Amino acid sequence: MSGTYRIAVLPGDGIGTEVVPEGVKALQAVGARFGHTFEFEEMLAGWAAIDAYGTPIRDEDLDKCKRSHAVLFGANGDPRRDEINVAERPERALLRIRKELQLFANLRPVRVTPDLVPVSPLRAELVDGVDLLVVRELTGGIYFGQPSRRWEENGQRRAVDTLVYSEEEVRRVVRVACELARARRGHLTSVDKANVLSSSRLWREITTEVATEYPDVTLEHQLVDAMAMHLIREPKRFDVIVTENMFGDILTDEAAQLTGSIGLLPSASLGPEADEHGHRLGFYEPIHGSAPDIAGKGIANPTAAILSAAMLLRSSLGLEEEASTVERAVALALAERRATSDVVRDGTAISTSQMGDVVAASIGDVAA
Ligand code: IPM
Ligand code: MN
Repeated sequence: MSGTYRIAVLPGDGIGTEVVPEGVKALQAVGARFGHTFEFEEMLAGWAAIDAYGTPIRDEDLDKCKRSHAVLFGANGDPRRDEINVAERPERALLRIRKELQLFANLRPVRVTPDLVPVSPLRAELVDGVDLLVVRELTGGIYFGQPSRRWEENGQRRAVDTLVYSEEEVRRVVRVACELARARRGHLTSVDKANVLSSSRLWREITTEVATEYPDVTLEHQLVDAMAMHLIREPKRFDVIVTENMFGDILTDEAAQLTGSIGLLPSASLGPEADEHGHRLGFYEPIHGSAPDIAGKGIANPTAAILSAAMLLRSSLGLEEEASTVERAVALALAERRATSDVVRDGTAISTSQMGDVVAASIGDVAA
């Protein structure tokens, strides 16, 4: 069935402005092949918005995101401008979107296909066949807990951040993880620091309770330090991993390295349950950042942005066939080594937009 969908497009900063158009290109190709209409509305976020409007994201643009079917995002930030004092940092755009759109479940899949094995810094036998999914809690924990401030006491500068979770915040994200595990290999690893933190002991208690509702899912608990080790030593052991906001932030950068290029990994951030039309407002972004070191050169890998568009089709629009078509088109480009220089290192690499063209062109061919 064909449909009309409103997609908010926020390229953001740095290579975000180069890779997001390639995700849009893929969606346009899907529209042409499957008869859908995508209405794209582009907005500024991060430094781009600070420079234009003096704020990382305008309220009216946030409202437009809320009213769309899904948001396709690039990246925020620029370390070269870190010293500049602004009222609100560019990352604030991302954090506000997450919080105000209630995007509590962040899905970060990591898959190492045979073509990617040589790109990984780890030995082939360790990574060949890795297929895991990290579900990171995204609207709670130390990122948002209060108090969060700094002050001076007895001539000492002090600062505090607060790691707080309610049981409902834990329950809803663990449910998402259990549902996903059930549809995959039925294994769930919950990561915490229950030997030290009260918030982690609550996390573990609630996770164990929720898992009893899913008898077909096996649950194991890991402490975060041990998990950092297991992820490198035996990544193939893991299926779905669920964890709190900051542990998830750190572990997903580590997990991304299993594939060798952070330019390959998409992510989805989902809010509350789908409406009666199967639409679940979601936010889709590459895991990589704005990469100012390579920005403007046309060499950034668009794969993560294109695969984010595929996740958008699947998770927010319920278009499974369309999503897997995009994924097949990307896999084909990588298998044929028609890709950027982070992946193709023999001098035959193509540019960001060329790779986007290759993928968009094959979407019609690989559709079932
Ligand atoms: C991420 C990023 C963000 C985070 C930053 C840019 C605020 O590192 O999406 O992983 O810490 O969540
Ligand atoms: Mn991060």
